[in-house]
Amino acid sequence: MPSGFQLAQRQAQAYESFTRTFMEGSAQLLAEGTSIAAGDVVLDLACGTGLVARHVVPLVVPGGRVVGADVNGAMLEIARNAVAGEVEWVEAPCDALPFEDETFTHAICQQGFQFFPDPIAAMSEAKRVLCCGGVLVATVWATPGHNPYIENQLQLLAAVDPSLSDSVARSTPPNADEFLLSAARSAGFSDVAVSLLEHTVEIADFNPWFLAQTGGTPWGPTLATLTDDGRRELADKMAARISEYSTPGVGHRIPFRSYRLEARRPD
Ligand SMILES: C[S@@+](CC[C@H](N)C(=O)[O-])C[C@H]1O[C@@H](n2cnc3c(N)ncnc32)[C@H](O)[C@@H]1O
Repeated sequence: MPSGFQLAQRQAQAYESFTRTFMEGSAQLLAEGTSIAAGDVVLDLACGTGLVARHVVPLVVPGGRVVGADVNGAMLEIARNAVAGEVEWVEAPCDALPFEDETFTHAICQQGFQFFPDPIAAMSEAKRVLCCGGVLVATVWATPGHNPYIENQLQLLAAVDPSLSDSVARSTPPNADEFLLSAARSAGFSDVAVSLLEHTVEIADFNPWFLAQTGGTPWGPTLATLTDDGRRELADKMAARISEYSTPGVGHRIPFRSYRLEARRPD
């Protein structure tokens, strides 16, 4: 299976501008919810535009180091421009990382494992590059029923173009908690546990943001097949589906929830 969630350059820019709206809060929660401290050496795996790495940088000073790795050069180019110098950005697939054994104290992966061709191979590779006792933290969307924005967006896109069904389903695997637990155990991690990570995102002007954010996903090109009226209609449908999160004159307050795996490389 090829890598999922691959974006072209223009979409990567849209990801940084609009998907960041909801990925930033969880990136901060993820980074700050770990034991990362001064001097640690941290890998942001499937770093994308580097949202997690940016929150890790202040935690590892003095004496630490942060590396972001992703298979997608367009995402890394945005990351390099956003954070010059403080993070080392490396283009590499999750299952063949160009790092020595036992390089990192921590590896963090936000919304990556569901897109990897072989999640257990990626977990094994993360374990190889972690020091003994090193910690892996990873998130995957908690669905169904936990993410009104992501779930309704993907359902609407699959209704517009049924050929997208497999690709959108991959973004939100059912029982993602079991998926993470079982991959980590199969790869030989210990102290494996999953918890729910939640944050709320405020969006003042929903419809234009929805269209711009969707444009910065792998399904963005589907929007280009619609007329202006078709796009407006799609945004109206989406707004109607999540109207319970809207306050007239104020905007939307939407919850986003992920399963958060924490696992330790045995000594
Ligand atoms: C939803 S994005 C998440 C990006 C980032 N972690 C964040 O929090 O914004 C998924 C990322 O996984 C990366 N990815 C997918 N397959 C990969 C693979 N085989 N190896 C490394 N990265 C991969 C994509 O290029 C993309 O940047």
